[in-house]
Amino acid sequence: MGAAGTDSFRRQHSCVAVLVALIVHQASGQGSALQTYPVDWSAVPLNPPTSRNLTTSCNCDLLNVGCSFGCCCDSKCPAAVTNLFQSDGICLPSGTEQQTLRYCVPDGFVYKVNLPASTDFFVQPVEQADNAKFLSQLLCIVSDKNPNVGDTYPDPQSGNTGDNAKLAQCPAAASPPSTPVQYAFQSIVQIYAAGSSAKQPFTVPYPAFSSMCNDQFAVGYLVPTPTGNRDYYATCERDLKTLNLSVACSGFGILTPQFYSEMRILTGQGSSSVAPVTTVSVQYLDPVTGALSTRASNATSKYNATSGLCSNIVRYLNMTLYYTYADPYGFIDKVELTLVLTDILVSNSPLLQSVRVSWIDSSQAASVQFVSSGNPGYINGFPVLAGTQVTDPSGAVAIQRLVSGMPVPTPGPNGLCNATSFGTVKYGVNFTSSCSISLTALQLKEFCINQTNQPEKYLRLAMPTLLLSIENGSLYLGEWGDADFSNINDWVQVSVSGVPFNETVPIYSEADMACSGLVIGFDLQIVTGVAFSSNNLQQKVLYAKLCFTTGVWDIPDQLPETTPNRFFLKFNVSFIRLPQQAVSVKKPAPPLVVPLPADIFYPFVISDSAAGASRLCIAIVVLAAAALSLALQHF
Ligand SMILES: *[C@@H]1O[C@H](CO)[C@@H](O)[C@H](O)[C@H]1NC(C)=O
Ligand SMILES: *[C@@H]1O[C@H](CO)[C@@H](O)[C@H](O)[C@H]1NC(C)=O
Ligand SMILES: *[C@@H]1O[C@H](CO)[C@@H](O)[C@H](O)[C@H]1NC(C)=O
Ligand SMILES: *[C@@H]1O[C@H](CO)[C@@H](O)[C@H](O)[C@H]1NC(C)=O
Ligand SMILES: *[C@@H]1O[C@H](CO)[C@@H](O)[C@H](O)[C@H]1NC(C)=O
Ligand SMILES: *[C@@H]1O[C@H](CO)[C@@H](O)[C@H](O)[C@H]1NC(C)=O
Ligand SMILES: *[C@@H]1O[C@H](CO)[C@@H](O)[C@H](O)[C@H]1NC(C)=O
Ligand SMILES: *[C@@H]1O[C@H](CO)[C@@H](O)[C@H](O)[C@H]1NC(C)=O
Ligand SMILES: *[C@@H]1O[C@H](CO)[C@@H](O)[C@H](O)[C@H]1NC(C)=O
Ligand SMILES: *[C@@H]1O[C@H](CO)[C@@H](O)[C@H](O)[C@H]1NC(C)=O
Ligand SMILES: *[C@@H]1O[C@H](CO)[C@@H](O)[C@H](O)[C@H]1NC(C)=O
Repeated sequence: MGAAGTDSFRRQHSCVAVLVALIVHQASGQGSALQTYPVDWSAVPLNPPTSRNLTTSCNCDLLNVGCSFGCCCDSKCPAAVTNLFQSDGICLPSGTEQQTLRYCVPDGFVYKVNLPASTDFFVQPVEQADNAKFLSQLLCIVSDKNPNVGDTYPDPQSGNTGDNAKLAQCPAAASPPSTPVQYAFQSIVQIYAAGSSAKQPFTVPYPAFSSMCNDQFAVGYLVPTPTGNRDYYATCERDLKTLNLSVACSGFGILTPQFYSEMRILTGQGSSSVAPVTTVSVQYLDPVTGALSTRASNATSKYNATSGLCSNIVRYLNMTLYYTYADPYGFIDKVELTLVLTDILVSNSPLLQSVRVSWIDSSQAASVQFVSSGNPGYINGFPVLAGTQVTDPSGAVAIQRLVSGMPVPTPGPNGLCNATSFGTVKYGVNFTSSCSISLTALQLKEFCINQTNQPEKYLRLAMPTLLLSIENGSLYLGEWGDADFSNINDWVQVSVSGVPFNETVPIYSEADMACSGLVIGFDLQIVTGVAFSSNNLQQKVLYAKLCFTTGVWDIPDQLPETTPNRFFLKFNVSFIRLPQQAVSVKKPAPPLVVPLPADIFYPFVISDSAAGASRLCIAIVVLAAAALSLALQHF
């Protein structure tokens, strides 16, 4: 058994994890509320910096705290976990690596090196020779022209000598594998379920193999959900008609917050102690207006069999597990829980449930975990960061970041517009979306004749808070994929045309049975550009313009006045690339002269020091070597 056995076990599991992550991408990312990250004012300076450093070589590190799964250059990942990513071949693209150079002299003799892909000179010792070998290693043999006569092997001795016997040994007697007290990477996290004392795997609702919630999806130690950073949550649909709601929506039922908050997570798989679970925040999502409000952390669910209403059930689950890991095993120290609850009528099934499980090293400072869409430039297909500008009484300005990025209304239940149903604008992806409003001919007519002061009425129903922040000019987009909430200079304000809405007035035409002059959507144009050196281009948002569009809603002639008809709101998002001309940059020539010590002419002033003479001698040799290596670089 031993190391080889566990290794192949781990490999199989990470393959499964990656496979599941691929399947899930299609299902997640729709149907979100406008959740925001909390603003930590203590991190917001009054005068944030205006310039930024674009030097980067780890593009996949998208979390400010915690290890980005599969990111082999992320210094926040335990070394052993990075090794597993590497041996499983799941390393994500990390960007251009810093160029390195092998040279045969000690690094103290090399002053600066001019490497083609770096914008500056730097010294990076890779293979140092020791001082004694300095002269013999001054020149290295790059290739030689001696004829090669091929490899020969000396005849090895036979019999029980040397390593012969070691290579043919009887296998050790098989012994049953023992379960360590701790967790190994990817081993299944164990819990005692709420109100039970039986040990069982920790499962979360997850869209494995279809968009329906699968309750058999077990969480692996140090494996986040979702596995990548493109989406904050993995979202699945739950068919309420298959559940006994008087059980699922009350007590410790599967839809209740107590199912998670009263769960006891074992600190190790063979351990008997449990990690404390802290409920950090509980919010309530109003299913009609999409507004979020704070709830007590002990809020409980209820089921009303008469009306078929399940109240206070889990819509969003954000679980953060803090760990300590020493290769190859580790523990879970504590658990933090953030929940968003909502109400749903059985007739509005399916219920969407969104889940996030993340892992943070206990030794890392406790702070809000943010997910970026690039480091620093945007990655194509990742959410465009968005947020509203907020001001502290002290005058500091920050961005309250929307968790899922820039929202666009998408169809909710039955294709209708719904204030809780939003998709996300993904960088570089042109996107059109529409949702419908159901009105009878009479309702439309009444609106068009008697409510002419609010042409945007139906748009406001679909996106109440988003429309407010667009109107009052507080909506911003992140310039860079890692725009910092505490630095307003990393964000660009969305320019808006078409507000206030008093410029257009709905007009009803009796002849055409049509209402014109309605505000029926928006067109968001995002201008993008690239920056930095040609071998490591970084993409950014330069400008954003949101134009409200007006249109006509026609009532089909043959339709009876009291039959509901669908009218559509439409949303367009397009990315326009700024035409850019590359600037050709020539590096300055590397310095030809090694800076010499001030006392370089010392022996000529005081003559009897042999040591001084040999130092000068070395300095001259180094000068020669530097010139020679320069000359060689040009060939
Ligand atoms: C930019 O960041 C790189 C890598 O973190 C660092 O080596 C370099 O010194 C920084 N440059 C400036 C001007 O801060
Ligand atoms: C649901 O569960 C409750 C309690 O266990 C039980 O009394 C009831 O009959 C169940 N309802 C259905 C439809 O199975
Ligand atoms: C949105 O859908 C929910 C059901 O998921 C429903 O209760 C709510 O009334 C809908 N909101 C609007 C504005 O239609
Ligand atoms: C929740 O906690 C508050 C005090 O923190 C208490 O007054 C209330 O009764 C609790 N509610 C439930 C349902 O336990
Ligand atoms: C259950 O719903 C019905 C119908 O809406 C309502 O009359 C009743 O008061 C509700 N029961 C409870 C316990 O809230
Ligand atoms: C999720 O939980 C972590 C840890 O408690 C917290 O930093 C983060 O802000 C939470 N995310 C949201 C959207 O509330
Ligand atoms: C508009 O409002 C007036 C007064 O409230 C009402 O008499 C009239 O019927 C309404 N028009 C339509 C088309 O509903
Ligand atoms: C702008 O609208 C947002 C709603 O998204 C609100 O929270 C904020 O207070 C408003 N700001 C101003 C200056 O009215
Ligand atoms: C629209 O409202 C703005 C400010 O409320 C006002 O300045 C403008 O004159 C109004 N325009 C029309 C056409 O009424
Ligand atoms: C969306 O874009 C399409 C094609 O570019 C255009 O035909 C349509 O009018 C646009 N719709 C809106 C609401 O801007
Ligand atoms: C997105 O739309 C813009 C403007 O219509 C167009 O210039 C651009 O080529 C489109 N991009 C893609 C990827 O289709």
